[in-house]
Amino acid sequence: MKERIKEQFKKRFSTDGVIYASAGRINLIGEHTDYNGGFVFPGAIDKYIMAEININGTDKVRVYSMDLDAYCEFGLNEEDAPKDQWARYIFGVCRETIKRGGTVKGFDTVFAGNVPLGAGLSSSAALESCFAFALNDLFNDNRIDKFELAKIGQSTEHNYCGVNCGIMDQFASVFGKKDCLMRLDCRSLEHEYFPFHPEGYKLVLLNSKVKHELVDSPYNKRRESCERVAAMLGVDTLRDATYTMLADIRDKVSDEDYRRARFVIGEKQRVLDVCDALERGDYETVGRCMYETHDGLSRDYEVSCEELDYLNDVARECGVTGSRIMGGGFGGCTINLVKDERYDHFIATAKEKFNAKYGHEPEVINVIISDGAHKEED
Ligand code: GLA
Repeated sequence: MKERIKEQFKKRFSTDGVIYASAGRINLIGEHTDYNGGFVFPGAIDKYIMAEININGTDKVRVYSMDLDAYCEFGLNEEDAPKDQWARYIFGVCRETIKRGGTVKGFDTVFAGNVPLGAGLSSSAALESCFAFALNDLFNDNRIDKFELAKIGQSTEHNYCGVNCGIMDQFASVFGKKDCLMRLDCRSLEHEYFPFHPEGYKLVLLNSKVKHELVDSPYNKRRESCERVAAMLGVDTLRDATYTMLADIRDKVSDEDYRRARFVIGEKQRVLDVCDALERGDYETVGRCMYETHDGLSRDYEVSCEELDYLNDVARECGVTGSRIMGGGFGGCTINLVKDERYDHFIATAKEKFNAKYGHEPEVINVIISDGAHKEED
């Protein structure tokens, strides 16, 4: 990928730039908890967005996306927002950096990536984090701290892309560390790295190829449900809610809002349970929690879809230790924790059965937990 980017950059801009990259992410457990002030447990993966960038001495940004074969040029003022969604991610990062007192001037860039799009692996967060990191290095002597870089990406989603997401994806993309998952408290932003070497198990993603699109999606509606229940309970976020408190207002909220909140209350505890289990090497508990999360996401939070429920059923049939829908939902991948000796059988069965039912095989994505945003060595 790097060589292709370099070649293209030279061809378009007749010079060389600096190369940066940032990662997509997985999340072992803790879904839809981030915007509720709860815990998440993500890790950055070996799938990246990579960009070559060179300051161009003008007040314009000139961007070429290799994967889309699309070019865009924009200025750096609010009224210069490009129409193309893909370019708005980069424009948003420029604007959010400027809003925080950072400097951004014109630059030329070529970027590409291997984070599958719409698969729930946070390709957009990888793009935002790559540029937030790069602009901080190129124009701001790395004065902006890493938390603020993650927030630049998150605010880009809120203000330029219409998704009221939490902080998990951008955090994972910026803070990711090789071989480690990170438990993040999304209220205090305290975080802890957990070395993740599940001896005797494999972690594999199965992409249903149902494209999830969070823009204008019911994602924002889920968040609104949670906020309504929190307001009714008189707490800032559902982080402070318990099942007992929820039972007390059962009649005052819609059944839908009730079920959304019930899922979140269970999920924030599951993250802590999984961390404890990992420290004991108790992968059976980890797996059981993953299945519970899937059921909650499917029945109470209603962000699954037929294909993902089917992949989850196949995992159960094959004796997979843990399996669940991963990320925002509405399509994308399941994440599966599977014993080494069951891996081949599971993958073959999932491919065969899914193909027979939906006419295509799920894509098997093996991931390695890797570093997050960085400058590439020459
Ligand atoms: C998307 C959002 C995240 C998070 C997850 C669900 O990936 O971008 O902030 O809410 O969904 O856990």
